Amino acid sequence: MTTAEIVESPTDAIEKARASSLLSPRFYTTDFAAMDRIDVSPLRTEWDAMLAEYEGDNNHDHFQRTEQFAAEVAQLTPTWSPELRQEFLDFLISSLTSEFSGCVLYNEIQKSVTNPDIKQLMRFMARDESRHAGFINQSLRDYGLGVDLGNLKRTKAYTYFKPKYIFYATYLSEKIGYARYITIYRQLERHPDKRFHPIFRWFERWCNDEFRHGESFALIMRANPNLLRGGNVLWIRFFLLAVYATMYVRDHTRPQLNAAMGFDVTDYDYEVFRITSEISKQVFPVSLDLDNPVFRAGLNRLLDLQTRMGAAKARGGLIGKMRQAGLALAGAATFARLYLLPVHRHDLPAQVRMAPVW
Ligand SMILES: [Fe+2]
Ligand SMILES: [Fe+2]
Repeated sequence: MTTAEIVESPTDAIEKARASSLLSPRFYTTDFAAMDRIDVSPLRTEWDAMLAEYEGDNNHDHFQRTEQFAAEVAQLTPTWSPELRQEFLDFLISSLTSEFSGCVLYNEIQKSVTNPDIKQLMRFMARDESRHAGFINQSLRDYGLGVDLGNLKRTKAYTYFKPKYIFYATYLSEKIGYARYITIYRQLERHPDKRFHPIFRWFERWCNDEFRHGESFALIMRANPNLLRGGNVLWIRFFLLAVYATMYVRDHTRPQLNAAMGFDVTDYDYEVFRITSEISKQVFPVSLDLDNPVFRAGLNRLLDLQTRMGAAKARGGLIGKMRQAGLALAGAATFARLYLLPVHRHDLPAQVRMAPVW
């Protein structure tokens, strides 16, 4: 294990969920008046079909624990190494934080707008994310580590993003969430002996919610095509790189978790990037060149710098601080170099919506 800190008590768990670092999931707030002015009427037919799917709520009975679930937890947990246990708890806490982040943001937007399309959508997405967060929290409670979500909502720092940045970032995190969950689900479908916790059996229907959330933001952006042109393409490139790089570095801090599922972390991440890039062609006119060796080397360099940053922080003192500053500069320079690499360009398809076929 590299940077996952030990979590032993509910206080540690909420501290971890509350932490603001480069790699930890954030909470967001936005300009609600601008959100209220979003017009989806150019894609009315697709929008209404999507809202009808939310209304149909095909996952309303999915996020319930079964008796078998508890029995499997009791049977499997004692077989874990301490490292796997810690990395799995770390994974649960960061997943809980990002699910709940969506819940809080969508709920705040829902409460603050009058635009009926946006209000309705946000209410449905907040419903889904609240189920997802609640379901993960039940698994944390098995280990005595349930997080007080009301407290987290009140005490975690919020990052302000203009609506367009919310659209780029949230679209990507929903689609990458889908790609992550489905890749794990398929792997464990092929290798059931590596399913070391029952929660993974819930991922297939779960990730369809995330897929649909991403579809919603795709429709919003395609209905407002100025968000996808001109200088905004530079922002899209920025968010693609930031989201991929963060995931790459964070996943590499959990080697035992990935090994337990039979994954090579790097292969898993590139599979998730590949799926996400394929999906994101529905809305983004550019995608990153994942096969460029300079891109791959750059992500490894960011990972190496982040690992050394952890060591410099642990060292402390003036030398530790100077090292941290140097590493931060090197990180920024590496990120800039990655940002300037050539990207693939695509025409956008006439039909926006896609099916979750992975
Ligand atoms: Fe979710
Ligand atoms: Fe979601």
